[in-house]
Amino acid sequence: MKIGFIGTGNMGAAIIKGYVKKDEKNKNDILAYDNVPEKVKKLVDECGIIQSHSVSHLMQNSDIIILAVKPDIYGHILEEISPLMKKEQILVSIAAGITIRYLESFFDLPVKAVRTMPNTPALVNEGITALSKNENIDASEFEMVINIFDSIGKTEIIDEKLMDIIPGVSGSSPAYVYMFIEALADGAVLQGMPRKKAYQFAAQSVLGAARMVIETGKHPGELKDMVCSPGGTTIEAVAVLEDRGMRSAVIEAVAACTEKSRKMSK
Ligand SMILES: NC(=O)c1ccc[n+]([C@@H]2O[C@H](COP(=O)([O-])OP(=O)(O)OC[C@H]3O[C@@H](n4cnc5c(N)ncnc54)[C@H](OP(=O)(O)O)[C@@H]3O)[C@@H](O)[C@H]2O)c1
Repeated sequence: MKIGFIGTGNMGAAIIKGYVKKDEKNKNDILAYDNVPEKVKKLVDECGIIQSHSVSHLMQNSDIIILAVKPDIYGHILEEISPLMKKEQILVSIAAGITIRYLESFFDLPVKAVRTMPNTPALVNEGITALSKNENIDASEFEMVINIFDSIGKTEIIDEKLMDIIPGVSGSSPAYVYMFIEALADGAVLQGMPRKKAYQFAAQSVLGAARMVIETGKHPGELKDMVCSPGGTTIEAVAVLEDRGMRSAVIEAVAACTEKSRKMSK
């Protein structure tokens, strides 16, 4: 099964690197094309994947085609690949706001289309990807696509109606978490901790807290309460975060992200 990537920027490269990190043999199954050939060359040197020098070469040699370009480039690429697409090939979108219906509209044949929304922690095999498919794909074909994303983290099959919510909660949310880690470390630096150590403490505590939610299955509120002893230090910090509206800022950020994705879908 050959997987062809069109676009090897942040997300394309993260998926490729995570997929090869999972199993070195996977490198033989990956072809990539980017309009900046040096980006693909870097991945060839780093991961040993195959470089395609044209979209037509990639289309001739791939079973699954992953479009890893910005949403505004999709129309242009879809017009280019439409006459080259064979009915047994599978088209995968990773873009915010690109609907299955939009993908289908470029093809005369009943194209096999999958809409996904991954995130960049794919690079370290800790991504999460939401997937929806159209009716032209059977269960075993969908399984092949799911397997790619399983190798770079977790996967969830969702109703396409929910897809515009995914950027806000996981596709884009690593950015908000990095902001939180940076702010946490700034706080420690302000109190006199060396910066490198501050990032280490901040990032590890975010990683640990996330694993507590996933592995204990406890409600995040209960886990928060477990850290807050009466009259202690933590509740002082929690009171400040509540006073500054941390929760509502995050909820509004997710709403803004979802709204943008919905607008793009239209
Ligand atoms: N970044 C994320 O965290 C994230 C998360 C989830 C989903 N996504 C989705 O992933 C997609 C890619 O995002 P990204 O952040 O990886 O963008 P990116 O870093 O800009 O990568 C896109 C790559 O495609 C190249 N490209 C542009 N036009 C092309 C063409 N005609 N043929 C071949 N390659 C072309 C770009 O080259 P140039 O630099 O020359 O334009 C760039 O190398 C987007 O649709 C986005 O919605 C991203």
